[in-house]
Amino acid sequence: MSKPFDLIVIGAGPGGYIAAIRAAQLGMNVACIDEWKTADGKPAPGGTCTNVGCIPSKALLQSSENYEHAAKHFGEHGITVSGLKMDVAKMIGRKDAVVKQNNDGILYLFKKNKVTYFNGRGSFVKAVDGGYEIAVAGDKPETLTAKQIIVATGSSARALPGVPFDEEHILSNDGALRIGAVPKKLGLIGSGVIGLEMGSVWRRLGAEVTVLEALPTFLGAVDEQIAKEAKKAFDKQGLKIELGVKVGEVKSGKKGVSVAYTNAKGEAQTLEVDKLIVSIGRVPHTVGLNAEAMGLKLGERGDIVVDDDCKTNLPGVWAVGDVVRGPMLAHKAEEEGVAVAERIAGQHGHVDFNLVPWVIYTSPEIAWVGKTEQQLKQAGVKYKAGTFPFMANGRARALGDTTGMVKFLADVATDEILGVHMVGPMASELIAEACVAMAFRASSEDIARICHAHPSLSESTKEAALAVDKRTLNF
Ligand code: FAD
Ligand code: NAI
Repeated sequence: MSKPFDLIVIGAGPGGYIAAIRAAQLGMNVACIDEWKTADGKPAPGGTCTNVGCIPSKALLQSSENYEHAAKHFGEHGITVSGLKMDVAKMIGRKDAVVKQNNDGILYLFKKNKVTYFNGRGSFVKAVDGGYEIAVAGDKPETLTAKQIIVATGSSARALPGVPFDEEHILSNDGALRIGAVPKKLGLIGSGVIGLEMGSVWRRLGAEVTVLEALPTFLGAVDEQIAKEAKKAFDKQGLKIELGVKVGEVKSGKKGVSVAYTNAKGEAQTLEVDKLIVSIGRVPHTVGLNAEAMGLKLGERGDIVVDDDCKTNLPGVWAVGDVVRGPMLAHKAEEEGVAVAERIAGQHGHVDFNLVPWVIYTSPEIAWVGKTEQQLKQAGVKYKAGTFPFMANGRARALGDTTGMVKFLADVATDEILGVHMVGPMASELIAEACVAMAFRASSEDIARICHAHPSLSESTKEAALAVDKRTLNF
């Protein structure tokens, strides 16, 4: 006997669980299916983000930053620490506890919003009565039906061709978040977001870290000036990043991993490391969904093809998050989930892709929203730029964290803010002001005329806005 619902969401990552909650708020009878389980077999909703992504990586970034502060920076404050020790097992345990709090939080939210959660793999069975039959394969097999389906099955780590993850020596993001002891030498392939965040964690804890990147440019999607400033900071920290390499044979044995590669000068090199994290991007995940048999259209990358409203080619079937086009970010997945739930309810859900912020949680943090200077140049848009260094900000000096800057790009004629870019302390939080300003189509003058608390890092945002008109007050 199948169980009828108004909406079935497959996947309980940020795209799926948020869509399920929003739909329930709008009065729908919602089922959410997710197959993730903890190592000891307990249901663990939250997807990649909660289990092996955003949340655990930020927990380890925080622990490792605390350690580095105590080891290297407390002295500047007149605080002497003797006998400083690191307990990696405890750090990993704390990270797991933070993940569990988030899993439990989502289970609580499902109950609160009356979303029925099924732990198991969801797959399309057949079309029925203008809707679909979905099977749940798990400890308790079930058959569900609904007229509306949201697929939010996320993504998985891309492996190097012929080099599968063993999560012992060759690690994806999963293994990278549960290394049991600090490796003496750690290698990473790919200096993208995971490469920089995970490289930072293990470098801070004492590993000698080398990152091999195929592209000749560092962080090509980031504003060039900001990327240059960030690279300088990482070089100073001892994070070794080699650009323009071509990775060849990777051999893994009991003693570790050896990576043959050609460097930017064309010279043959070998990198010997204890562990290798492969962070070369992620692939949309549709395994086990029975998507193709159902006639669901997939793109070249294995992504589910959707239109601007997240509609697939099948009536009543929507897809959101990492499994579709666009940036693979939790908040982008959430926004799409909310918008689709609202569209199903007959409302006008909307996502502005130009206003999806990016944050890289290294130290200094890198954050941006809107267009980069190179994008504006390429599009022939006439713009004005203003920058303000954290070095000239009183709060940053008090914090002892003066690396980096805030940069504003505004339209030359209208002064509308076109992009805001930051590298420096708490950029992850500061970028929110830029998102709000741009959502309201503010000008740089609007920000320049708003009273910001003193002393605060956010004064750098105001000063960068003033810099657009060449009238900074503190620099
Ligand atoms: P996912 O979170 O991948 O969730 C999909 C869920 O669907 C999973 O639980 C999966 O088990 C389940 N599933 C798949 N197929 C089925 C099926 N057939 N039946 C049932 N269940 C199924 N983004 C940020 O914005 N900020 C960050 O700081 C950040 N840090 C990250 C750090 C790392 C190390 C990684 C790997 C990613 C990070 N991301 C971050 C990206 C973020 O995790 C993803 O963009 C986000 O999780 C996408 O959400 P989603 O709902 O589309 O998919
Ligand atoms: P990425 O796309 O950020 O970076 C991959 C890097 O690997 C690129 O620089 C690419 O040029 C390089 N590369 C690809 N193939 C290579 C090869 N064969 N040899 C050497 N280099 C190679 O992907 P990453 O770091 O794996 O992260 C995946 C995604 O997860 C991110 O794009 C992002 O969407 C999400 N994420 C977001 C975070 C955040 O918001 N703070 C944190 C971590 C991940």
